[in-house]
Amino acid sequence: MKKIRVELGLRSYDVCVGAGLLGSADMLGKLASEIGASQVVVISDSNVAPLYGQATVDALAAAGLDAWATKPFPAGEPSKTLATASTLLDELLTHSPAIDRGTLVVPLGGGVAGDLGGFVAAIALRGLRVLQSPTSLLACVDSSVGGKTGVDHQTGKNLIGAFHQPSCVVIDVETLRTLPLAELRNGLGECVKHAVIRDESLLEFIEASAEKLLATEGRGDDKKLSFDAEIMAELIARNVTIKAAVVSADEREAGVRGHLNFGHTIGHAVETFIGYDNIRHGEAVSLGMVAANHIAKARGLLGPSQAQRITNILSKLELPTTTSPLDPGSIWQIMQHDKKALAGKVRMVLPTEIGKVDIYDDITPAEVAQAVESIGK
Ligand code: NAD
Ligand code: GLY
Repeated sequence: MKKIRVELGLRSYDVCVGAGLLGSADMLGKLASEIGASQVVVISDSNVAPLYGQATVDALAAAGLDAWATKPFPAGEPSKTLATASTLLDELLTHSPAIDRGTLVVPLGGGVAGDLGGFVAAIALRGLRVLQSPTSLLACVDSSVGGKTGVDHQTGKNLIGAFHQPSCVVIDVETLRTLPLAELRNGLGECVKHAVIRDESLLEFIEASAEKLLATEGRGDDKKLSFDAEIMAELIARNVTIKAAVVSADEREAGVRGHLNFGHTIGHAVETFIGYDNIRHGEAVSLGMVAANHIAKARGLLGPSQAQRITNILSKLELPTTTSPLDPGSIWQIMQHDKKALAGKVRMVLPTEIGKVDIYDDITPAEVAQAVESIGK
């Protein structure tokens, strides 16, 4: 098992990465016991609960913990709402025996379960401890680490929430085998993002391992991902190491944590423009990274061959690098309303080489228009 420490003073915690951790009383059960929980509540969605919910509750119970699971919420982003949080809170607060400040919440699933479950934990009894147990690659390498929790509002994504760091993160790479291939690619897009902002050697690793990471076996409903567990664990650990360092340096996003938004400014606008049901987050971020690189190239910050190298790896991972033509004016307008914009000024993260980025707040509508046209087929 690999362990990565997120250094946050008294709130520091470990991210544990390995195979077979979830169903094991000696691993998950022991880690939860060490937190000293009086009761453990597992929160999961309608896809993940039938796959891993019972094994998780059993592993916790086998370690002597009083564990139970809430009714699974419907899988998908539309469930990330105050209404679902309220239903979960009702279940927690009416449970017998009653929950108390010693209760531990275990969000089990993708980023939606993590953000929603983490948010419920942040506000129930003014704060319960959390053990994040991510089962999508995106959640393993990004959302389970760093303490951002929350739900969406009709006016935008993630607009209601709280910083609430977990006490521990347990990543069982074996759970990723049941992930739809498109969701694996989604997570690989975030891995490319980490490589571009901090670590060229991670990009080399992804380039060299792409086929092995995307390998599948079986057919139809029996199709499973057949990646090498060691390679997947290494990929996750390297990404968590980057995310942990960024979060330790800037927990509340006053500075360098903003680097994690590389590809997200235009990406979020594309997502809003095309519609959340019509494009996956990772696909939009892939387009956003290519568009950001176009601006970096035009400014003379990033060499054309470096930009092409990033486009090539995204293509190899079967993530989109072009899309049907977009309306640049609408994209610019959406970008001005992004929660990261300051006084209407659009801020973007641009690479200056592979492994290094800076934040720019002098981005012009003309630059965005050219970048958006460059990704339109
Ligand atoms: P998700 O939670 O909806 O999971 C994607 C799909 O995969 C869902 O259908 C889910 O049921 C399914 N799934 C998950 N694990 C599975 C498994 N092992 N086997 C089979 N199916 C599985 O979405 P996501 O892509 O994991 O996360 C996206 C969310 O994360 C968004 O809401 C985004 O805002 C949030 N996010 C948060 C942060 C943060 O720092 N908190 C960072 C990035 C993204
Ligand atoms: N995913 C962005 C962040 O955690 O800050």
